[in-house]
Amino acid sequence: MGTPDVTLNNGITMPQLGFGVWQVADDEAERAVRTALDTGYRSIDTARIYDNEEGTGRALRASGLPREELFVTTKLWNSDQGYDQTLRAFDASMERLGLDQLDLYLIHWPMPTVGTYLDTWRAMEKLHADGRIRAIGVSNFTVETLQRLIEETDVVPAVNQIELHPYLQQNGLREFHQEHGIHTEAWSPLGQGQGLLDDPALAVIAKAHGRTPAQVVLRWHLQIGNVVIPKSVTPSRIAENFDVFDFELTGDDLAAIADLDSEARIGPDPATFDVR
Ligand SMILES: NC(=O)c1ccc[n+]([C@@H]2O[C@H](COP(=O)([O-])OP(=O)(O)OC[C@H]3O[C@@H](n4cnc5c(N)ncnc54)[C@H](OP(=O)(O)O)[C@@H]3O)[C@@H](O)[C@H]2O)c1
Repeated sequence: MGTPDVTLNNGITMPQLGFGVWQVADDEAERAVRTALDTGYRSIDTARIYDNEEGTGRALRASGLPREELFVTTKLWNSDQGYDQTLRAFDASMERLGLDQLDLYLIHWPMPTVGTYLDTWRAMEKLHADGRIRAIGVSNFTVETLQRLIEETDVVPAVNQIELHPYLQQNGLREFHQEHGIHTEAWSPLGQGQGLLDDPALAVIAKAHGRTPAQVVLRWHLQIGNVVIPKSVTPSRIAENFDVFDFELTGDDLAAIADLDSEARIGPDPATFDVR
């Protein structure tokens, strides 16, 4: 069974379940992306700073899949923010990926303390208007940075990719997204594996469905409407994480997972993170 699509605010569709490659070296990323594409994933999430755009590109080409069946996301790194820098960084990413057109380009972090995200966004709007990118979005934006972006620029982001898992459910930000037609995409959807996947409440739900805790967590993301991009370099887990389309969590399961929210971040705080 293939992944369902979501429709973004400019009408283009994106697979709801994709594959992330953070902390995967270039050669290993090539192998992992090939395994993912063989398994049925069609959406791949990389970034300039992951240093694996080339390996990702090689895997896309080696798959032999038609370009229109693939959905490729990459992200503009913090040191490349600014209008001209963004135009140059985009060309360099496309060169490394070996693509003519990108499906989704994201500003990786807003860096509100630096204050260059509006100019950066205007360059992304131009690339979008020129047809080089099918959809533009952001990552790690807060309500405050999104609000300013929406007020002062023309295109509402299609996506905000944020840290989101059962221990950090981001209900306020998800509500803001919904009000403004922005799709929520969850990074570290499995809470990076350890800890979250050992939670006793998830074990109970997993047992009841004859599934693994990871499958329960991914199913929860899908049922609450998130786009989700689990990462694994382990072939059995790559398959396990894609095998989530033939069961349904109950209302009680969803309520039990809602109770796990402790607003606990794994990653940095987007209001202050400005590493370049
Ligand atoms: N925009 C941003 O700032 C940002 C930040 C972080 C991540 N991301 C994106 O989000 C993607 C996913 O996030 P993430 O990589 O941080 O974490 P994640 O997907 O929540 O978890 C990945 C970890 O969980 C393990 N794992 C995967 N499937 C498993 C399973 N079925 N059972 C048990 N363990 C499992 C993996 O191990 P193995 O690989 O060893 O199997 C890996 O250690 C990234 O790859 C990246 O594309 C974006």
